[in-house]
Amino acid sequence: MRFPELHDTLGRFTLGHGPSPVRLLSHLMSTLPSLWLKDDGNYGNGGWGGNKVRKLEWVLPEVTRQHRNAILTFGGLGTNWGLAATLYAREVGVHTALALIDQPVDDHVEAQLDRLRTSGADISLTRSKARTVAAMPYLYLRHRRPYLLPAGGSSPLGVLGYVEAGLELAAQIHAGAMPAPSSVVTAVGSGGTVAGLHLGLTLAGLTDTQVIGIVVNDKLRLDHRAITSLARRAIRLLRSRGANLPLTQLPAGRLTLLRDWLGAGYGYPTRKGTHALQLARDAEHLDLDPVYTAKAMAAVLDLAGSGRLPKGPTLYLHTYGPR
Ligand SMILES: Cc1ncc(COP(=O)(O)O)c(C=O)c1O
Repeated sequence: MRFPELHDTLGRFTLGHGPSPVRLLSHLMSTLPSLWLKDDGNYGNGGWGGNKVRKLEWVLPEVTRQHRNAILTFGGLGTNWGLAATLYAREVGVHTALALIDQPVDDHVEAQLDRLRTSGADISLTRSKARTVAAMPYLYLRHRRPYLLPAGGSSPLGVLGYVEAGLELAAQIHAGAMPAPSSVVTAVGSGGTVAGLHLGLTLAGLTDTQVIGIVVNDKLRLDHRAITSLARRAIRLLRSRGANLPLTQLPAGRLTLLRDWLGAGYGYPTRKGTHALQLARDAEHLDLDPVYTAKAMAAVLDLAGSGRLPKGPTLYLHTYGPR
């Protein structure tokens, strides 16, 4: 735990091995000589990897501290979050209920739905946001006061996983594993990852590093104000549990959210995403997914190609980790 004073007030389970590795992606694009990867794809110890594991390290201790037997959470039909929550919660004896809304179904989503069905999750196909809201009282009673978690695990507690990742990155830079990046680019599906990075990099003193979030979800409000407010709620949570936070202005100009690579909507593949996915696999043996990371990588390639990235090293934070 990075905040020793929180030992008695905030639990943290170790579900993965940090620091996640950083490496230069030297084969992806000749015009982008200094593109780095921080690979959270293999972060988890078991089950499903990716960025959800860091969130669960903070969320699950709270679920058990409150003696809840079940989690109720939300996502699309191919939810990575729902699968990770189910598999890791199961390890600590907690059952997961998922209310899933529609998204375009392709092979990738079919395969994920199969995994979800065999994971032991209790799945309700609520289909739309409105029907999910209408079903809430029933779901809440059926699962007997479950611990409620927003889509993607992006509660203030979940955000702490990426506050920690920001501090971890700063330590890697300090140790010489990579140069300080001018920008970090990553996918935004529910906002917890970028909100945490924004705060973590601020706490680490890396105020000049831009955080560029590539929004791939049109079902949630994911603008500058929403993400900043989530980061502020994480600050309040840390303070309320006794953290001695030095700061605290989040530098307003650091965070940029871009929607140009969303395509027709959440889960709809794009031509540029498909191209980025193939390129990353062929050139760097990096497995992207079509919903989140392919669109983020397409953005990196476009932004670099048109000279729109800040000068200096760029870091792509990889968040997809199938097992
Ligand atoms: C593979 C992958 N990358 C990125 C994200 C986005 O992270 P966040 O929900 O924290 O914005 C998600 C989930 O939403 C994901 O499953």
